[in-house]
Formats: sequence, C-alpha cells, structure tokens
Amino acid sequence: MAHGSSLKMDQLINPISQLKGQLRAPSDRSITVRATLLGGIADGISVVRMPLRCDDTDACVDCMRRLGVKIENEESSDTNSPFSILNSKFIIHGRGLHGLQAPTERLFCGSSGATMRLLSGLISGQAFNSVLDGSAQLRKRPMRRITEPLRLMGAEIDDAAGCAPLEIGGRPTSLKGISYPTPVASAQVKSAILLAGLYAEGETIIGETAKTRDHTERMLATMGVPLEEWQADGRYWAKMRFTPSLKPFELTVPADFSSAAFFMVAAAIVPNTTLMLLDVGMNPTRTGLLDVLRLMGAQIAIRNERIEGAEPVADLDICAPHGLKGIEVHGELTARSIDELPILAVAATQAHGTTLVRNAEELRVKESNRLEGFVAELHKLGANIEPTTDGFVVYGPTPLHGAVVDGLGDHRVAMSLAVAALVANSPTTILGADCVSKTYPGFFDDLAGLC
Ligand code: S3P
Repeated sequence: MAHGSSLKMDQLINPISQLKGQLRAPSDRSITVRATLLGGIADGISVVRMPLRCDDTDACVDCMRRLGVKIENEESSDTNSPFSILNSKFIIHGRGLHGLQAPTERLFCGSSGATMRLLSGLISGQAFNSVLDGSAQLRKRPMRRITEPLRLMGAEIDDAAGCAPLEIGGRPTSLKGISYPTPVASAQVKSAILLAGLYAEGETIIGETAKTRDHTERMLATMGVPLEEWQADGRYWAKMRFTPSLKPFELTVPADFSSAAFFMVAAAIVPNTTLMLLDVGMNPTRTGLLDVLRLMGAQIAIRNERIEGAEPVADLDICAPHGLKGIEVHGELTARSIDELPILAVAATQAHGTTLVRNAEELRVKESNRLEGFVAELHKLGANIEPTTDGFVVYGPTPLHGAVVDGLGDHRVAMSLAVAALVANSPTTILGADCVSKTYPGFFDDLAGLC
C-alpha cells in the first residue's frame, strides 16, 4: 500500500495457527520527527539513517522544506538487502537556530500531532508569522496544552478554541524561559516547551508527573544543549539553559517500539510462534509493554543490546508457552505504555482473569477516542471489554470471532484489530485499513510475510 494515498481500503484478515520468522519493524516515528525538526535548525549538515517514511514523517519533512530547509532523501539501490528500503537516509542541511525562512503557505502537518505540537514550539521563537494547520482529524485534537505554556513564554498564538489552525506571530525579541509543571504528562507538550526554550532567555524548566518519552532531551544533549534532569515533589524535572547554536548530528533510527508492539502481542497470543523482532528501540520511557507482558506471564528474551546514537536498541524474542494472566496497569506503567494500550487490550482478551488499565484518560484524545471507539470495535470481535472513567477493563480469556470492524481512521486501532483477528475463529474485515499508513504503510504485507 502506497502511503499518502487517499484510497479507502478494506483488509481481510484470516485466522492463523502460527507465526514464524523475523521482522525489522519500521523506524521510530518520534525520533524521525525530532531529527527532522532539530536537524533543520542545526549549524550544518545532519545525517539521519533509516528514517521512517510514512504519512506523519512526510508531513514533517514537507513543513521543514517550506521553512527553507533542504532535505535530501537518498534511497539505497542495494537490492540484495532484505531491508533495502531501510538503507535510505535524510541529509538535512540545517540553517542554524535563526536561519529558517518565512513560509509562503500554511504549514500543513497532515494528521501528525507530534509535528504540529513540536513545530509550534520551534516556530514560536521565529521572527516571521506562520499558520500551522492539519487534517480534519488533527483539527479536533487539543492544542491548548501547548499554546498555554508557549504564551507564558511570550509567544503570540491564536488557536481556534484550543485547536488548529494555529496562527503564530513573528517576534522581534526572544521568548522568556518559564518553570512549568505540566498538567498532562505528555512528551509532545514537554518537547514543544523545550524547542521554544531554544529561543528563550534564561532557563526553561518543565516538571511532569510521569516521565514521558525523552527522545527530545537525548537529541538536544547530543547537539550540545546543557540539560539537567532530577526528581522532586512527585515530578520529573528537566532544565535547559540557553545555547547559541546546535551541533549537527548523525544517527541511525531504531525500529519503532510502538510498531513492533503489534508483533510482540501477536507472538504472545498466537500458538506455535517463533518470531524475532530486530533493532527494536528500547528507550525505557517507551518499553512499558514489555514489563506488562512479563507480568502477564510472557517470556521475553532481550538479545544483542546496544546503543545507537543516544538510544538503546535490542533484538527481542517473545512467547507465552504457559498463556497469559490478567493484571492491573496504572501510573508510570500506563505512561510508559500509552501508545500500546490498544494492543495490550487485545492481549488481555486472551489472558486468564481481569485486566484493569487505569490513568489512561489521554486515550480519549489520540487519533480516535481509543476508550470509547476502539473498545466498541474490539467488542464486535467478541471481547469482554468495557471502558471505565480513566481506562478499560477486560475479562478473559474470550474466544474471539470474525466480524466487520472499523479502523476508525486510527492506525493503532486498525493494527490492534488485525492482531485480534489472527486468533478469531473466522475471517475479519477491517474497514478503512489504509489508515495504517500514518506510521506503518507496510503493516499488512509484513504480517502476511510471517503467517
Ligand atoms: C509522542 C508522544 C505521545 C504519543 C504519540 C507520540 C511523541 O503523545 O502518544 O504517539 O512523539 O512525542 P502525547 O505527548 O500526547 O502523550
């Protein structure tokens, strides 16, 4: 399936009796977006090997090009490599902190929340006006969480009742640093403030109630930005000091833990599975699902642990020969599994006992309302799942049956339903399955290759 296509596609998923092989899931979206944005304001040329190519990252690259950044995309011609498409690289000609050009049109962020929120931080410190806009889906997502702190820093932002489009006014002078305890634990909010902090006088300090993904901090540190992190008063704090310029970087993007997660759960619930997941990003702020699966009784072998750039990476081998059992997930573990909660719900349908997920209100404001909509779709496959005020509860194990379900325009919903359909007793049709192109255009081909 070509990403960027507006064709609506339905996908048939047949039940399977085993899953075999090895897979390198597509590269990490969060890291690719950050590398594209930060590479664009570095002082020189950055090289991003194996960037993720999907709808979200294409939108991010397009925005940076509109701001005057030259981004070359070299695709490998090595046809012998099974991962030849992954041998591509972005060569980003950074324009320095103050070298971006005024865009002649709106910066269209597609459906990429990370592009819109992080870019807003970066744009808030520029001397020119710009408008950030996005798809109908992105226009519904909450933006006040970033516009409020950015305004406290002195940014001039007009948001349409808290949503995109965002009109950001050019500033003749610097922003000012703030000390901000964020009301929601969100890496996008934290990163927007840190990127604005690059254009602020004084220190920029952020405190979050749970430690969210720290790819921005790791990348900024590599680029020479002085950063301190500590824990106090029940919060995780990060402080950034002024830096006159950013060093360019070279990095290889690991496979996205959140994309590999669909296969982790498939390996745990499909019998007779031997599956090796390669090059998986193992940043501890992202790997909550591994802890959850272990607590549920899965066996996880972590091999070939290494550091790529500033990020830990490993190969994983997962199975659950004795089945899974239900558990409770809350607090820090919920934050560290936030994007994996839909696929965790699928695992829970096959686990013995009750699985309760708490502190997951944020699921209501993802690409779809994952508490109401996703739960209803999983129900259609026979799952015994109910939304609660701040999460969901699953009673298992339940035999699933095939049905016609809807991807709800949400990549993680469509991929989670596909994994559930693997263990159903009859075929399932997923309507609008093309939405996987947001992060994982080749998902259904990869799945077919392992069955
Ligand atoms: C992301 C942060 C998370 C996550 C999203 C990607 C990022 O969102 O759910 O898929 O790249 O920073 P929030 O910051 O809204 O929690």
